[in-house]
Amino acid sequence: MTAVEETVAYLRRRLPRLPRMALVLGSGLGVFAESLSDTVGVPYEEIPNWPRSTAIGHDGRLILGRLGSLELICLSGRAHLYEGYTPAQATFSVRAMGKLGVHSLILTNAAGGVNLAYEQGTLVLISDHINLQGSNPLVGPNDDALGPRFPDMSAAYDEHYRHVAKLVAAELHITLAEGVYAALLGPSYETPAEIRYLRAIGADLVGMSTVPEVIVANHAGMKVLAISCVTNMAAGILPQKITHEEVLETGAAVRDTLVRLLKELLPRLEAA
Ligand code: HPA
Repeated sequence: MTAVEETVAYLRRRLPRLPRMALVLGSGLGVFAESLSDTVGVPYEEIPNWPRSTAIGHDGRLILGRLGSLELICLSGRAHLYEGYTPAQATFSVRAMGKLGVHSLILTNAAGGVNLAYEQGTLVLISDHINLQGSNPLVGPNDDALGPRFPDMSAAYDEHYRHVAKLVAAELHITLAEGVYAALLGPSYETPAEIRYLRAIGADLVGMSTVPEVIVANHAGMKVLAISCVTNMAAGILPQKITHEEVLETGAAVRDTLVRLLKELLPRLEAA
């Protein structure tokens, strides 16, 4: 039995229902899980082989719950490469979700705003990404049963999901920008020169997560939607330093808006 199979067998015993959608909650966004009813929470440390989240502002729990009639799994807390996890460990949860029968993966994250039109608190739908992490979770032997050796990434962020997200945001009068996310390894924030470079190559956002998960989800044939919260303008844009406290504070401030958006959006995606 592989590690993923062992984990999935455990989750099948623990979870009374197996949904088709999973939502990964980024820094400071764990409160979304409070909107769910009929919940079953499983601390990450109880799940065999599951990497624990060591990042501050990240909870470490899998929560099964209902949002209206929609069943979903919330992953509150993720494993980042900068914590020292390997690309395989950082995407283990996505592999497990795929094996459990999840078809739709929704990701949220905190990001720095590279695009000068953004401001602190802007919510941005990710349309595409640039992987500058120097690694790829698919490196190594390919398991053809999971997905192809060379997966296509030309529509990594499902176009129809993005269309629905824009419609729902407009209905709720929530501003939802759209942009390209550049993933760096971290954990140091970028230099102003790096941010100028990222802007020149077409990035609108910068962060340290999400991309490995999106690669594995695409490999597994899942549909992906990802939303960034611009918790701070990227380095060198404003005359101030970037701190993790600022990142968490902004995450907390926009949390209610993001929760409002997700509550309306997720059931509509399920139908999409
Ligand atoms: N850079 C990288 N990752 C981040 C940032 C940033 O400015 N803000 C939140 N996550």
